[in-house]
Amino acid sequence: MMTSKIIPVDPFDLVIFGITGDLARRKLIPVLYYRFIDGQIPKSSRIIGLARSAFSTQQFRNQAREALKQAVSEKHFDPALAKRFVSCLHYIKNDVNSDEDWGELQKMLKDSDNKVLAFYLSVAPVLFSPIVKQLGRLNLAKNSRLVVEKPFGHDLASARKLKSQIGAVYNEHAIYRIDHYLGKETVQNLMALRFANKLFEPLWNTNHVDHIQITAAETLGVEGRGEYYDNIGAMRDMVQNHLLQLLCLTAMEPPYKFDADAMRDEKLKVLRALQPLTGEEALRKTVRGQYLAAPGAPGYLEESHNKDSQTETFVALKAQINSWRWAGTPFYLRTGKRLRSQVAEIVITFRSTPHSIFGEIDTPIRPNALVIRLQPDEGLNLFIMTKDPGPGGFRLRETPLDMTFAGNSGDDWRPPDAYERLIMDIIRGNQTLFMRDDEVEAAWEWIDPIMMAWKNSGVPPESYDSYSSGPAGAVELIVRDNRRWRDIVA
Ligand code: BG6
Repeated sequence: MMTSKIIPVDPFDLVIFGITGDLARRKLIPVLYYRFIDGQIPKSSRIIGLARSAFSTQQFRNQAREALKQAVSEKHFDPALAKRFVSCLHYIKNDVNSDEDWGELQKMLKDSDNKVLAFYLSVAPVLFSPIVKQLGRLNLAKNSRLVVEKPFGHDLASARKLKSQIGAVYNEHAIYRIDHYLGKETVQNLMALRFANKLFEPLWNTNHVDHIQITAAETLGVEGRGEYYDNIGAMRDMVQNHLLQLLCLTAMEPPYKFDADAMRDEKLKVLRALQPLTGEEALRKTVRGQYLAAPGAPGYLEESHNKDSQTETFVALKAQINSWRWAGTPFYLRTGKRLRSQVAEIVITFRSTPHSIFGEIDTPIRPNALVIRLQPDEGLNLFIMTKDPGPGGFRLRETPLDMTFAGNSGDDWRPPDAYERLIMDIIRGNQTLFMRDDEVEAAWEWIDPIMMAWKNSGVPPESYDSYSSGPAGAVELIVRDNRRWRDIVA
């Protein structure tokens, strides 16, 4: 069985704005509890939650314990440990715009001997800039780290504006822009696969790779977030960040070192090498969709409370990277809500064998494929052709070499949540898995013209059935190139 070594971190003060919000309740508090039970939260550390409601710290601790009961698996919920954990939590009522409301936080932080101070903005984007301004004004920002949840802007212009507002107080080395996909176990394993093995690198280029598919499919719709989501859509919510980051990690050149700037320099080169998609070409190479109602599940138009909404809940597109390594190998990206299964994966499909020596056989030779599965069942599958066992003639079949991480990591293995890794990296001061400002801008630079082409076309998104594989146009997009999507199956 594998043992995991817990790297100690310095005692810290982690101040979370928006502690009563969904992300804090569902993710941040539970993942901090997991780190606590693994002994990674040093004794004097404090998690200081801020929100507008008036609670006492004790009331907040009780709520946090309830949130843990809901979010943590039964196996890992230990009432005694939960009690000890919540004693690290503190609550301060804070209305960002009220100058008087900052006094208590100032007082708490002034007396702290903890080495690390991080401010986590788990709030609506409109509050990013006012909070940062206050941190600057009160001199709290000094020697602290700032953690920002996406979206980082709405387009290139707003991203630049946000950058300059935050940049007036924080320098880039103190800013941690979260893209939680980068914290997923398999995404980090992609780095291990590519750069700690010799096997794949000689094949990792257009001479050997036919095409690459990146899929992030969800079964849930937008649920209660309809009105918020209606101003965003799948392109901004998933493609601009998560999918493009996966594309970068798959396509990038080996960095000279596994370090924040070396990694991010290489990812940036990929973003800059993306062939721009504008006007007609953007319309030809992208498909957007919107889900319809199903029995017991309202359609997007109902959930968004906007019956004329043209917001996309699905995007498929064909991207091309203009580089020696990838020219001629398309990247097909696809994401959507209310699809058949909850799946996120990267599929590398290699080129076919140049000639079959087997002649007329029952099973055609299928190109090898490497499936890198982010969720569910994190792992890798390498599909290779093998001989069907037995003496009854020579037949071929496709067989996966299966490397499911859970199966290889012992019975006690619990796939860590992406946020566990990311929060600890913030405390350690490691920015490798966080997006740099120039990456964010380069991503918007590529996305903006596509969204502009959609807007100018006036064509609404294509409808698709809930729990299907998405709109028919997405199938056509790839079939046109004589290829097909891998089925969306968990
Ligand atoms: C978030 C999006 O960033 O990622 C959500 O805002 C989406 O709309 C979520 O549901 C998907 O994350 P995961 O980890 O469940 O694939």
